[in-house]
Amino acid sequence: MEDKLKNLAVQVKKQLQQVATLDQLNQLRVQYLGKKGELTAILRGMGNLLAEERPKIGTLANEIRSELENLINERTKTLKTVAKELQIARETIDVTLPGKSFLIGNKHPLTKIQQEIETVFLGLGFNIAEGPEIESDYYNFEALNLPKDHPARDMQDTFFINTEVLLRTHTSPVQVRTMEKTAPSLPVKIICPGKVYRRDDDATHSPMFTQIEGLAIDQQITFSDLKGILSIFARQIFGEKTKTRFRPSYFPFTEPSAEVDISCVMCKSAGCRVCSHTGWLEILGAGMVHPKVLAMSGYNPEEVSGFAFGMGIERIAMLKYGIDDLRLFYDNDLRFLAQF
Ligand code: DAH
Repeated sequence: MEDKLKNLAVQVKKQLQQVATLDQLNQLRVQYLGKKGELTAILRGMGNLLAEERPKIGTLANEIRSELENLINERTKTLKTVAKELQIARETIDVTLPGKSFLIGNKHPLTKIQQEIETVFLGLGFNIAEGPEIESDYYNFEALNLPKDHPARDMQDTFFINTEVLLRTHTSPVQVRTMEKTAPSLPVKIICPGKVYRRDDDATHSPMFTQIEGLAIDQQITFSDLKGILSIFARQIFGEKTKTRFRPSYFPFTEPSAEVDISCVMCKSAGCRVCSHTGWLEILGAGMVHPKVLAMSGYNPEEVSGFAFGMGIERIAMLKYGIDDLRLFYDNDLRFLAQF
């Protein structure tokens, strides 16, 4: 029995040296140490031994068993390390292969222009204000000196939620909302970008479009302040050579009111199709805030004055980029959008 055990140990050690894979090693473990393994079989045969021999053989068998187990475990570790190193050696990275290119998006042209306009006015000391797109009749019309029966309401038909609530037709209600909040403090200098809605739909009008409103209130604000600010704006957005022209106009919320033109960006005032051969392009409406509007919003028109203006961002973008159809802004065609 003792010889049998010692021979078995020698045999296993010999085989261990020839084992090259983890699979083979496992087979070896099963073959000798497993439930039906050879060492296990020998140990089962111990019942036939004489009682005084059993402890000696038992101890020997246990020693051999743990020695073999240790050897197998060690060999397992070595083989695992080798296998990993082999795998790493096989997984080479070819640094000369071309990389994957990522598509980087760009800002929507309307966002771009809006931010450019904001930058100009922030630089002139204006803050950015916002107001709701779902607006009350009061703020959209009434408080801007457009009572219910005012004929100028016809030019701004919109989507009504009920008789008193509507989608705002312009950003002008934010003037009133801002003044109500700040009165009687001075100065007020805000611009307000945002979406507006009208019952219009063609190549130059969309039921939803974007405006930027401006408002400045202080003591002794004059029409020349308005002219100065808007001339700076036009030059910064359309180029240093851009000229501005103020034409008398009418808005219920300003008095006097003006329509502001810039020298045609396409033909440099020579006259072309875009400017209808006038050399001028209309870009916004403006004026001195009507005393009634000041009073309704909490300011004393005897003590303060102000100017206001409003422009369509789409129109500015179309002129700046030479785009002839407003609907391109909303079609989400990447061939168009990627050009900006
Ligand atoms: N709210 C006017 C519109 O949408 C534009 C406008 C004109 C705004 C004159 C103003 C202004 O603040 O003073 O047609």
